[in-house]
Amino acid sequence: MKKPAVLLLVLVAIAMVGLACGGGGETKAITPTATATREATTPIATPTEEASNAESGRQLAQAKGCLGCHSTDGSARVGPSWKGLYGHSHALQDGSTVTVDDAYLLESVRSPGAKVAQGFPPNVMPTFTLTDGEIDAIIAYIETLK
Ligand code: HEC
Repeated sequence: MKKPAVLLLVLVAIAMVGLACGGGGETKAITPTATATREATTPIATPTEEASNAESGRQLAQAKGCLGCHSTDGSARVGPSWKGLYGHSHALQDGSTVTVDDAYLLESVRSPGAKVAQGFPPNVMPTFTLTDGEIDAIIAYIETLK
């Protein structure tokens, strides 16, 4: 009894996908919603999710131009290298010391002028428009650069 109904649903679904590809917007919300739900219900990321988060962070850092100023191999560019940054302490321009953790990285990306790394010029790093999720991914990437 159920079979024709299921078949009909499948056909409707196929038709909707076809429409969406032709310019309709029916399917646009599917992917973000799925991701948001997964994040909301699974606060502790599995190792695989952590790795793919870091991978999207790497891609973002490249796409946004961060890697033009920040190396990942320890060499200094316009800004400090990201290699070995996470979890270590380093000096700031004002003489104080910070331990690089998620909060410090978040602040450094949101307001680059708030705490300036010693030996590097202030007011050089631009302020980026990034979502919390994007910064989170970039932080996950920086964390992998031991
Ligand atoms: C035009 C060059 C430039 C670009 C592009 C740039 N930065 Fe920077 N960044 C700097 C400089 C210079 C500093 C050091 C001065 C300071 O702390 O503001 C810095 C500092 C930082 C720090 C703090 C590092 C430390 O050792 O304390 C982080 C984190 C950071 N940048 C992340 C990013 C991210 C993420 C992006 C891309 C979204 C980015 N930067 C793009 C130049 C840049």
